[in-house]
Amino acid sequence: MYLKLSITTCSIFMLLASSVSAIPKMFDIIAYGGVPNEDITQAFTNAWYDACACNVSSKVMVPRGTFKMPNTVTFSGPCKAPIEVKVDGTIQGIINPSTLKQEGSWVNFEYINFFTLSGSGIFDGLGVSNPWKQDDFDAFTVSAPGESVNTDGLHISKSTNVNVINSRIGTGDDCVSLGDGNTQITVQNVNCGPGHGFSVGSLGGKKNEQPVTGFTVRNCTINSTSNGLRVKTWADAPGNISISNLLFEDITMINVKTPILIDQEYCPSKKCGNKEPSKIQISDVTFRNIKGTATLNYGHSIVLNCSKEKPCKNVRFDNVDIKYNNGSMPLATCVNVDPIEVGLMSPSCKP
Ligand SMILES: *[C@@H]1O[C@H](CO)[C@@H](O)[C@H](O)[C@H]1NC(C)=O
Ligand SMILES: *[C@@H]1O[C@H](CO)[C@@H](O)[C@H](O)[C@H]1NC(C)=O
Ligand SMILES: *[C@@H]1O[C@H](CO)[C@@H](O)[C@H](O)[C@H]1NC(C)=O
Ligand SMILES: *[C@@H]1O[C@H](CO)[C@@H](O)[C@H](O)[C@H]1NC(C)=O
Ligand SMILES: *[C@@H]1O[C@H](CO)[C@@H](O)[C@H](O)[C@H]1NC(C)=O
Ligand SMILES: *[C@@H]1O[C@H](CO)[C@@H](O)[C@H](O)[C@H]1NC(C)=O
Repeated sequence: MYLKLSITTCSIFMLLASSVSAIPKMFDIIAYGGVPNEDITQAFTNAWYDACACNVSSKVMVPRGTFKMPNTVTFSGPCKAPIEVKVDGTIQGIINPSTLKQEGSWVNFEYINFFTLSGSGIFDGLGVSNPWKQDDFDAFTVSAPGESVNTDGLHISKSTNVNVINSRIGTGDDCVSLGDGNTQITVQNVNCGPGHGFSVGSLGGKKNEQPVTGFTVRNCTINSTSNGLRVKTWADAPGNISISNLLFEDITMINVKTPILIDQEYCPSKKCGNKEPSKIQISDVTFRNIKGTATLNYGHSIVLNCSKEKPCKNVRFDNVDIKYNNGSMPLATCVNVDPIEVGLMSPSCKP
């Protein structure tokens, strides 16, 4: 109960604690009524709400144990001070796709500056136990761009200075996906899989999107996913923002279908007709120290399908080594882009 007291008295507590203000204020979801093996959505949401309103650095804690968060949940800013979510337990996610409320992600973080997601915990989307997700998700995309039905692990949009560190994410869809309006997002020491890997986009489906700049994925393992590192923008769509300064480094792929994919003809339902190329400019993308294994996927492990109208600029590969499990070399296809290749590049984009 004493914890409860400190929760409801953030500012008073802070007056007392102001001399040690470097220590973030803790908001433990247990103190907000979170119970192991039960749905913690409400407890988490309330803890987030108070932490976000706190005018000094705060930390929302999910302790060890297994918890459920069966629905889509969105944590919004802006928050008054830097905020961290530390997950040391396992959060089990969407089991029933009909519970999906919005754009098709499970846990959403939006409109936040200076946010860190950390902890030794697991975001377990239970994706593989769901027959609906064993199909190619993308097959569920409905006619109009921007309405794809899928379940990202963490979706981040309209945020600045977000770090996702030391986590494990397995969802059946994107482990982390970036929507529009993000700057300075870092994903580091994250184990991803099964699912669809790390993704920027899909973008371009709507007018009035904001650019994405500064996305780093570093020191991560991507295991048993369909894609590894992916940027996708819609064909036949109005969006014309830029996506720039992406750095993917020190990544290990294990049995990934398409380890590296820039797809500017994204149109899963194939109803776009590909009449118009994507208007999104992708530039300054570096893939450095990427190694591991691919599974057979129409023969290509590295696919850069850039826009005819806006060819990708300054794409750089530095020490990339992707093999099939049997040691033989897959293929790369690189269209509307002339990548720079330094160090080992296997497979190479160059003929
Ligand atoms: C935090 O808010 C409390 C009351 O709302 C106020 O007294 C205090 O000065 C604020 N601290 C900072 C650092 O703004
Ligand atoms: C990279 O990730 C591994 C495994 O997750 C971890 O043990 C190691 O400390 C990380 N290295 C750096 C430089 O962060
Ligand atoms: C990769 O995932 C498979 C299937 O989930 C698992 O059996 C294997 O241990 C994982 N490999 C590593 C290195 O984590
Ligand atoms: C995007 O399109 C809008 C109008 O649709 C235009 O005003 C804007 O200049 C375009 N931006 C870029 C980067 O081309
Ligand atoms: C290795 O595996 C790939 C993908 O399954 C296959 O296309 C290729 O023929 C195999 N190579 C050898 C030497 O078995
Ligand atoms: C890349 O573009 C070509 C040409 O439009 C298309 O045939 C192919 O399916 C695309 N590949 C991927 C992986 O999207």
